[in-house]
Amino acid sequence: MVAFGITATDTEIGKTVVTGSLAAALKVRGYKTGVCKPVASGCVRMADGKLISTDAEFSMACAGIDTAKQKKVVPYVLEPALAPAQASKLVGITLEPKVMVSTCKKMIEDHEFTVVEGVGGISAPLTDKFLVCDFFKALNIPIIVVVKPILGNVNHAVLTVEYAKNHGLKVLGLIVNSWNEKEVGILEKSNLFYYEKLTGLPILGKLPLLPPELINVADSKKIAAIVEENIDMDKIIALAGGNK
Ligand SMILES: Nc1ncnc2c1ncn2[C@@H]1O[C@H](COP(=O)(O)OP(=O)(O)O)[C@@H](O)[C@H]1O
Ligand SMILES: [Mg+2]
Repeated sequence: MVAFGITATDTEIGKTVVTGSLAAALKVRGYKTGVCKPVASGCVRMADGKLISTDAEFSMACAGIDTAKQKKVVPYVLEPALAPAQASKLVGITLEPKVMVSTCKKMIEDHEFTVVEGVGGISAPLTDKFLVCDFFKALNIPIIVVVKPILGNVNHAVLTVEYAKNHGLKVLGLIVNSWNEKEVGILEKSNLFYYEKLTGLPILGKLPLLPPELINVADSKKIAAIVEENIDMDKIIALAGGNK
């Protein structure tokens, strides 16, 4: 029944990898773990015509959920790789906020711990009137912001956190993705310093680059081990209110 959301400073920053990785760690800790997403765009059409969300596939595999249950994890799948509000117009599908919210609520109710992946960034439009922040607000869950230690990202992190707070969301902290300890220089170190100084939030961990073979097969045990070494799961669980 405990859940938190994952947003990021932009698309392609690592929401899916972090969502799946945290779900893998929760699963290996023994929680009945759920994952969900309000809508997925940029989905892949299979030979039988079915649309597959690779985001949902990865996080479902990490959480140990059968991929046949995609519909329970993500109620809408869209082929165009555009923000859902626009992608849905192109293919003539009406996205219903109440369906996105109720699907994820059900997932949360049916599991001990659920990681909810957003779409794009915090103000990405799911419909013209329903943005990612409205979705998290409707679920009444706190969020974690995934950031990447690249030039310009401190600004995006601060804007994301401020926007989320201004819209009444609780932000638990930041996760730095694609951290490469061997290549750390002044840019990466100063990003870490300013993330905390300017957002006033804790860095909950730094996820390193995962080997492609771990991502390809969504090896939850190995991914969980990397998470436990690099991300403060005890703190995330406590902040989200999930201590048993
Ligand atoms: N920690 C990581 N290790 C390895 N590859 C990563 C990592 N984080 C992200 N990637 C890769 O970068 C791309 C974007 O990540 P993804 O999680 O899909 O971003 P988002 O969900 O924010 O759009 C994907 O190809 C993903 O496999
Ligand atoms: Mg994603």
